[in-house]
Amino acid sequence: MWLFHTLLCVLGCAAFANAIYYIDDQDSSITYNSSAGVGYGEKWHKYSHEKSNSLAVSVDESICFGGTATYTTCYTSDHCTLTIPFNGTGITLFVPQDVGDIYNTSISLDGGPPSVHFAYTPPNATAEAYNVTLYDIQNLEWTTHSLQVELIGMRLIFDFAAVTGDQPTSSSAAVPRAAASLSSMTLALTAAAFYLS
Ligand SMILES: *[C@@H]1O[C@H](CO)[C@@H](O)[C@H](O)[C@H]1NC(C)=O
Ligand SMILES: *[C@@H]1O[C@H](CO)[C@@H](O)[C@H](O)[C@H]1NC(C)=O
Ligand SMILES: *[C@@H]1O[C@H](CO)[C@@H](O)[C@H](O)[C@H]1NC(C)=O
Ligand SMILES: *[C@@H]1O[C@H](CO)[C@@H](O)[C@H](O)[C@H]1NC(C)=O
Ligand SMILES: *[C@@H]1O[C@H](CO)[C@@H](O)[C@H](O)[C@H]1NC(C)=O
Repeated sequence: MWLFHTLLCVLGCAAFANAIYYIDDQDSSITYNSSAGVGYGEKWHKYSHEKSNSLAVSVDESICFGGTATYTTCYTSDHCTLTIPFNGTGITLFVPQDVGDIYNTSISLDGGPPSVHFAYTPPNATAEAYNVTLYDIQNLEWTTHSLQVELIGMRLIFDFAAVTGDQPTSSSAAVPRAAASLSSMTLALTAAAFYLS
């Protein structure tokens, strides 16, 4: 009996700590904030390739994670931000990007001092890129964190975040494979423990 409980805890904790889940750009946990008077361009909105053709953006949202992306164009003084809360030890932000585009952002974790992070396609790129990493941080303390991204470079198309941590049960995000296999494993071990007790 004791062995099974110990086994459950060890397997549970290890698999849990390594689980990755995704937060899509349309997830209601993300707060998008464009200040009242955006001086240039467009406030945060759901990106549409077709509608953005006048701006010559060729990113195709149907290739993006979940088939969606969220777009803004801002001056630094517009303070356009997106804020993602998460429970876990790490987060990676992924963006799609046009040829020759540069996204420049100021990113702050848990209200700490911001640092500059940018993404750009290589000068010899011939097509738009997907799943470009804008920001990555891991090995944080396991707790509730909040990541704020502020635009300092004209435009940003945001696709999704990958969180190393604990997926909220109410979230509409996809169930990660690790968590799914963990629950069936836990179920099997619980059944075995019950049978043997
Ligand atoms: C949104 O941005 C405005 C202007 O910078 C700021 O006054 C407001 O506090 C922000 N709201 C949130 C929820 O961050
Ligand atoms: C973090 O975990 C707490 C406690 O389970 C929960 O109330 C909260 O909604 C979670 N927040 C996020 C962003 O997952
Ligand atoms: C990003 O913005 C910072 C602060 O204005 C600036 O120092 C840096 O050169 C910019 N980086 C790029 C790639 O434009
Ligand atoms: C672009 O240049 C880099 C470095 O010079 C090279 O490694 C890469 O293969 C090139 N990519 C293409 C698509 O030509
Ligand atoms: C981007 O990454 C996600 C998550 O790993 C994956 O499902 C998707 O296929 C990737 N998309 C592309 C275009 O590589």
